[in-house]
Amino acid sequence: MQWRTGSELRKLFLDFWISKGSKLYPSFSLVPDDPTLLFTIAGMVPFKMYYLGIKQPDHPTAVTSQKCVRTNDIDNVGRTARHHTFFEMLGNFAWGDYFKKEAITWAWEFLTEWVGLDPNRMYATIYLDDEEAFHVWNKIVGLPAERIYRFGEDENYWFMGNTGPCGPCSEIMYDQGPEFSCGKPTCDVGCSCDRYLEIWNLVFTQYDRQEDGSLKPLPKKNIDTGMGLERLTSLVQNVRSDFETDLFRPLIDHACEIAGVEYGSDARSDLAVRVIADHARSLAFMIADGILPSNEGQGYVLRRLLRRAVRYGRLIGLDKPFLCEFLPIIIRIMGDPYSELMEQQLTIEQVIHLEENKFSHTLEQGTNLLDMEISRLKKQNNETLDGDIAFTLYDTYGFPLELTTEICDESGIL
Ligand code: ALA
Repeated sequence: MQWRTGSELRKLFLDFWISKGSKLYPSFSLVPDDPTLLFTIAGMVPFKMYYLGIKQPDHPTAVTSQKCVRTNDIDNVGRTARHHTFFEMLGNFAWGDYFKKEAITWAWEFLTEWVGLDPNRMYATIYLDDEEAFHVWNKIVGLPAERIYRFGEDENYWFMGNTGPCGPCSEIMYDQGPEFSCGKPTCDVGCSCDRYLEIWNLVFTQYDRQEDGSLKPLPKKNIDTGMGLERLTSLVQNVRSDFETDLFRPLIDHACEIAGVEYGSDARSDLAVRVIADHARSLAFMIADGILPSNEGQGYVLRRLLRRAVRYGRLIGLDKPFLCEFLPIIIRIMGDPYSELMEQQLTIEQVIHLEENKFSHTLEQGTNLLDMEISRLKKQNNETLDGDIAFTLYDTYGFPLELTTEICDESGIL
């Protein structure tokens, strides 16, 4: 397999789908035009109206590399090889045009012939009774039946949200080898460890979930797919984690350099630099799309990410504002195609600068107080922080509750 940069892979994906007749759209904003969502969480979000049949597209198929933010798992970001708050989703979409056969065979063609992944390491999962998908994988692609796994709704049904477009899906998994396994005897396709990496989700979007949970058939049969660019890049570059790809590595290296730490030598500082690298990308892209720090909605998420990054910075000795320094590096890695980063560079810097300075002060006061309290509790062999203290920290000092929880967790205090 040929080594490629993340940017090259993004372009390869877009070119592939253009060659299949799809219309290329630039990424849409991270702020969706949809009151049911805080952020664009998937490539299909900007096209919701086409799925529902409320609007008609001027072309029935499309391809994008979409900027996405997901915040349901912030605590895992930095702790695993794969969790991110900001990521790019490569996706191809069809509304009443090609369906399962093409979506599956073309995805296979892209991965095996264009990218060069080893077909013998690939598996597919399908929804329980999706015989059509089974037939395509088995008879047309030629994947042996024992490499096609059937799972229920939790694994193989994709919902955009509590309501809206949804449907059964088929995922393409890649076996990274036994050295990536969790080692449990049950480790197999579907295990949440890193051995069988889920690389591409192909959704056969046929229903609109209603408020009461019922599924209303959509007017057309549609396709919605999503593949994380960071993850694909890690496979192609043969590294163990997304953070080691060229999409992240310069950010990791810069964080290490300014903190004077070496990546891979200490679990705690590795975690800190990964959190900083992840959050720095989110901050830049969120502000470029017009989000400003606030106490609610998207702005609150922005504020929370900035505070988390600053606090992790403190843990590795970064006690002066440092977040703006990542912007030129992010622009170097992703300014093409995301020209908004350059256009908004000054605004992004100003917003980060102001917010970071403001928070540094709060952080210093709050951390000192909390540290004192934790030492006091430890001396008394007490493992529980008094709720009043957490409240005072929040109420009087503006110290965020989730930081109190996180710091207590790290010290074994409840
Ligand atoms: N919308 C699907 C997902 O996010 C492709 O996984």
